[in-house]
Amino acid sequence: MKLNLVVLPGDGVGPEVVAEAVKVLEAVGRKYGHSFNFDHRLVGGAAIDAEGVAVSEETLERCKKADAVLLGAVGGPKWDDPLAKVRPEDGLLALRKHLGLFANLRPVHVYPALVDATNLKPEVVRDVDFIFVRELTGGLYFGKPKKRWQTKQGRRAVDSMFYTEQEIARIVRVGFELARRRKKQLISVDKANVLESSRLWRQVAMEVARDYPDVTLEHMLVDACAMRIIQNPKYLDVLVTENTFGDILTDEASMIAGSMGMLPSASLAGVPEQGRRIFGLYEPIHGSAPRRAGLNMANPIATILSAAMMLRYSFSLEKEARAVEKAVEDVLNEGYRTYDIMSEGKTKVGTKEMGDLIARKAGG
Ligand code: IPM
Ligand code: MG
Repeated sequence: MKLNLVVLPGDGVGPEVVAEAVKVLEAVGRKYGHSFNFDHRLVGGAAIDAEGVAVSEETLERCKKADAVLLGAVGGPKWDDPLAKVRPEDGLLALRKHLGLFANLRPVHVYPALVDATNLKPEVVRDVDFIFVRELTGGLYFGKPKKRWQTKQGRRAVDSMFYTEQEIARIVRVGFELARRRKKQLISVDKANVLESSRLWRQVAMEVARDYPDVTLEHMLVDACAMRIIQNPKYLDVLVTENTFGDILTDEASMIAGSMGMLPSASLAGVPEQGRRIFGLYEPIHGSAPRRAGLNMANPIATILSAAMMLRYSFSLEKEARAVEKAVEDVLNEGYRTYDIMSEGKTKVGTKEMGDLIARKAGG
């Protein structure tokens, strides 16, 4: 297969971790007979500095025409002024919105070799494997009104958690489709005891459930879910939730896997069904970690695993996706660690070395 990717390294450690994912894709391509064409473009602070916008029209157009997009991370102290007209994060949000990437999949998988890498007890995290489906183009991030204004009594600001029933139905459907292929249990996370948008969410979830009689639907309040993630993560399998809730809960959940540097994500423009290829953008859930930038320190595994998700969801290359995931597992089992997952007796390696080790296995 010949595959055209737009690559958006972004800021901070973004370029370093993306380079390793590209290396792994090339290695897998050589082994299984696929060739990748990588079109590198700017996003985030890098784009603001060079092009005056967080993502240019030209870049958005190229992404639309590509088979998939690989992204690193955006942001940094240089562009952090709260009064700035344009922020690096705007680039990411524009990509998600303009490319219609409403379904954000964030799997939380605990590799056996890393059960000691977390602050939680090994018996709590061992065998944990669940997946968050985060709504990505609506909710509190995008709802209108969204503004700040001046009154005689002082400054005011508003953000709105807004959803149409169609937006809720399509994301809940993603949850059901995934649940159907896993343990047939879906947890819908909301705040229906307080929020009107959550009450609509819950009602629509129950309506969509009629199409999936083989899957059990459970509703969980977001605060209770935050607790459950730490208390008994083994209980969780597929969860679906609002944009902001998903943002917060997945940072929390990443600690179970040992580090933010371990969590990949796929942002899809359609409902993943077996064998169907869906346009998507793939990125680690972590940020640009400016303090680690340029030091060959960052953990590239989240980005490499995001590339594996690309092979799976955008190209239906399941065998190749598994080869990458297996390579990550093997390298961890052999004791190699970046600084963020380092523990006594293990071999500390940098970003490049970790990428080389995984690429060699995945392509070997
Ligand atoms: C994420 C990030 C982004 C988000 C930021 C960088 C805008 O935290 O992908 O989780 O809030 O969605
Ligand atoms: Mg986040």
